[in-house]
Amino acid sequence: MVAPSILAADFAHLADDTRSALDAGGSLVHLDVMDGHFVPNLSMGPALCASLRRALPEVCFDVHLMVTDPGQYVEAFAKAGADHITFHAEVLEQIEAIALANRVRDLGCTAGIAINPETGLDRVTPLLDSFEMLLIMSVHPGFGGQAFIESVLEKAEQVRQCGPDGLILEIDGGIGPRTGPTSIRAGCDILVAGSAIFSKAEAERAPVIRSMYG
Ligand code: DX5
Ligand code: ZN
Repeated sequence: MVAPSILAADFAHLADDTRSALDAGGSLVHLDVMDGHFVPNLSMGPALCASLRRALPEVCFDVHLMVTDPGQYVEAFAKAGADHITFHAEVLEQIEAIALANRVRDLGCTAGIAINPETGLDRVTPLLDSFEMLLIMSVHPGFGGQAFIESVLEKAEQVRQCGPDGLILEIDGGIGPRTGPTSIRAGCDILVAGSAIFSKAEAERAPVIRSMYG
């Protein structure tokens, strides 16, 4: 599946622009939440998520928390309409990450753990049974429009070989017509794409999403 990242959308026409990306073949909406601390950018909060949820009641919202204290935000995003909440392994001890995943599920959402390009798989391997999804960052988090870091695909291949079975693999950053198919071949289930979709005119979005499937 392709998850349009609305960080790259037109915030002044967010519901329409998001709907356009979904009509073009996007399956779920990726919301990049940034706190200006874990990453050097500020993006969106629960109020935006709640507004978008009112406009798009039936769509899966995949919330990506690039924040230093994700525990502070999971309730607010669950209440604002998140279906899935991913937070970063780099900001929590393993035991804290497992506890937070349980809190996310108690809130009715599925839980994901994210690793930056420089973070090894060994940082999360002991945790993966506690999560529905692993998000492999293929750019350094904080901004859209960056170049894909090929080496992260080894992590996807390794998870596919070693399991756990059933873990959903999402890859995020620099996904487009070239990097989408290679990510799928490496075993990724969900491709997050921002600039590759939203930089295109509406009429060009369906072909570019189709091209990501190879
Ligand atoms: C980066 C975000 C990504 C980014 C993707 O910190 O997590 O979701 O918005 O944007 P593109 O597809 O333009 O790399
Ligand atoms: Zn993201």
